[in-house]
Order: sequence, then C-alpha cells, then structure tokens
Amino acid sequence: MSHYVVQPATGVAGAVRVPGDKSISHRTLMLGSIAEGITEVSGFLESEDCLATMRAMRALGVTIEQAGPHQVRVHGVGMHGLHGTNHALDLGNSGTAMRLMTGLLSGQGFDSELVGDSSLMKRPMERAAGPLRLMGAKIETQGGKPPVRISGGAQLTGIRFELPVASAQVKSAVLLAGLYARGATTVIEPAVTRDHTERMLLGFGCSLHANAGEVRLEPPARLQACSLEVPGDFSSSAFFLVAGSISPVPAHGAGLTIKGVGINPTRTGLLDILALMGADLRILGHRSAGAEPVADIEVHPARLKGIHVPEHLVPLSIDEFPALFVAAACAEGETLVTGAEELRVKESDRIQVMADGLRAMGVTCEVLPDGMRIQGRPDGTVFSGGTVDSHGDHRIAMAFAVASLRAAAPIKILDVANVATSFPGFVAVARGSGLSLAEQG
Ligand code: S3P
Repeated sequence: MSHYVVQPATGVAGAVRVPGDKSISHRTLMLGSIAEGITEVSGFLESEDCLATMRAMRALGVTIEQAGPHQVRVHGVGMHGLHGTNHALDLGNSGTAMRLMTGLLSGQGFDSELVGDSSLMKRPMERAAGPLRLMGAKIETQGGKPPVRISGGAQLTGIRFELPVASAQVKSAVLLAGLYARGATTVIEPAVTRDHTERMLLGFGCSLHANAGEVRLEPPARLQACSLEVPGDFSSSAFFLVAGSISPVPAHGAGLTIKGVGINPTRTGLLDILALMGADLRILGHRSAGAEPVADIEVHPARLKGIHVPEHLVPLSIDEFPALFVAAACAEGETLVTGAEELRVKESDRIQVMADGLRAMGVTCEVLPDGMRIQGRPDGTVFSGGTVDSHGDHRIAMAFAVASLRAAAPIKILDVANVATSFPGFVAVARGSGLSLAEQG
C-alpha cells in the first residue's frame, strides 16, 4: 500500500494547473455515448474514476478514442444503440459513475450489474434506486448497497421528484432516466447542487428548464453530439486554495495562482467560506469554457479566523471539507461545521477520518453527528506531524499533504493510491507549488 511522506514546507507560490473536472468528465462520456455523432472532448480527466466510466461505456459497445493527452473522441451510438454485456461493470471507487450509470441503464433494453471497489461496495445506492423505481425501473440492491442489478426493458414514466437529500448524483440519475421516460421529469432540490448535467444536456440539444430549485426535462427524440471543453476541477484546486491561504508568507510576497479552474457557482462554496474566514483570494481572467465559467484564482497567505460555516454553503462545497478542516485548524478561534452529515457517506466517513487525523497531529476537535467543531491556532506550527491514515480517501490524503505547510515534523499519510481517482499527477503539481512530498511503497 503506498503512502506519502511530506516534509514541513516553508511556503507555496507560483502558478499551478489542476487536471480536468471529474464530474464533468464522467458526464461527457455518458452523454456523448448516447448522442448521435462524434463528441470531441478536450481537457478530459484521465483519472481512475473517469477511466472506469470509459471502460464501462466501451463494454456497452461505444467506441471511445483517446486522441491525445486529455483529448477524447466519443463515437455516439444514439439513445438506443448501447448493448448489454454479460459481465458486471466495475466502477472502481466512483460513486458518481455508479449512481449516474444506474439512471442511464434503467432505460435500456438489457440487464446490467454494477460493482466497485471495497469503498464503493459499502456506499448507499437506494437514494438513486428509490426514485428510479418510482419511474418504473427494475433495480435491486443488496441491503441498499452494491451490487446494483438493473433489469432491462422497463417502460419508464416521468415523475416529479423532490430530493430528500441535496445530491447532484441522484438528481442526475433521475434526469438520465428521464431521457428514456414517457412524459416530462421534474426534480426539485432542497438546496442548490452542481448543475453540470443540466448544462450539458442543454449542450446536447435537450429541452430542459431550471428555475427556483426545479429542473424539468422533456424526453428528447435524440441527443446531438457536440464539442466540450472540460475546465480544471475546482475540487482539485481546493487543496491549493487552502495551501495558499495557510502558507507562511513567502519571502518575495508572491501568491499562488491556480490557472484555468471551473468556477461554476454551484461548485465554489469554498471561495465564499474562505472569504468569510478572511482569506485573500482574487478571481482573474474570467472566461467561459463552453457551458462552464472558468478563471484563474490567485491566493495569498492570510490570517484566517474561525466561523460557523453557513449551512447553505455546504452542498456548494461538499467535496472541499477535508481541505477546509485543515484551514480551520490554522484559523484563529473555533470553526463550526453543521448540516454536513453527507460527509459520512463519501469515499470514507470524512468527519470521523479527518477528526482522527487532526487529533493524531495534536489538533483539538469535536466530532458532531453532522459536522465538526475545530479549535484553530493561527500562529506558527499547528500540526505536530506523525502518521495519519487516509483510509483510501483521495481528498483526505491531499488535505493532509497541505497540512505540511504548518507542521512541526514530517507527516506520513497512509493508503494514498486513490489520489489517482481524481488527481493523477498530484505529487508533481504539489511539489511545483512548494510542498515537499514523495510517494513511497
Ligand atoms: C458529484 C456529486 C456529489 C459529489 C461527488 C460528485 C457529481 O455527490 O460529492 O464528488 O458529480 O454529481 P452527491 O450527489 O452524493 O452529493
């Protein structure tokens, strides 16, 4: 099992570029596969999660060319052109792949089975299966968890569904099934979640209306292939936004710039949270990458202060909490996170696993059912160093690497191979920014 050894770093500065957006990359493959014509994708994220989706779509009969670095060409087979396979589709570590594929496969004429790695096999799938069954899908889970077995040939009917939890994956699963339904499908969200599926469906020519927390999709006759540009993943940039904020002030006063990052407002809750904590962030060069807004983000060290994170920002920053907890440990006073119980069903229980790691390095924190209370220390070193276990969770491994900026001694981070699920090349990019880490074992 591989681990990181991270030496205390003296600061981050310069410019980095993070790889393509994971959520968007998955969706380009799924929608490109059922479109008519060739969908050209640039900026694609060749991470383990997205490659699992690629293998699954290929197994279902789609030709997908990797035309060059980050370039993918999907030869769409049309809405009814996928064909079944007699082996289970292995979606690795990816909850997004499994939930969205459950929606997509509900409307097909063939049976499917979805499995994944030991983390994914423990994650809740009824949240997607439940509403899909209301549409007429025939889906079985095992005690609510994978394997997910989908029987083909079901006639789906559009529904009006109010999501019980704010989840873009469940919303997207229902919308993907809605492509195959009789009548319109409407999803009502309790809080705003990432809207990449909606933006992309519009790009493929679908008739979709989003307004005041409701998304309504009319089933299309076809999806028309298009060109898609995937921006840098805001969630990968989060580690550098926190690194730049907690960094000891570099001698030359320069900040750290993260270039070409997606700043879709349904993803950038962390910018608002860090701003409330007193971070020095500058959004530069605002532009668009097709349907998605992009910018460079410059961050300078700042004296952060603890806050009660507003709950409405939680779904808009749901993947950023491992990094945010590290920032909170370096802030003056207490930071309180509530309304974030969803963190318990991510790639690991991110409340417990982060609290265990923070405590192992001398940070005082209290685990809450739906969040955490962290006592921060704004000056000098904050983390004692030592060994922390990421439990195979990519974002936890990367968050603790950032903690090295304020560590008194080296940090050993266990079980880091899964960083490749979202951020291949993290070690090189992190070293380029000034962190001092090496992967071993
Ligand atoms: C994602 C939605 C979120 C997020 C995940 C990616 C997506 O999950 O945590 O990393 O691509 O739709 P939930 O829908 O479970 O909140």
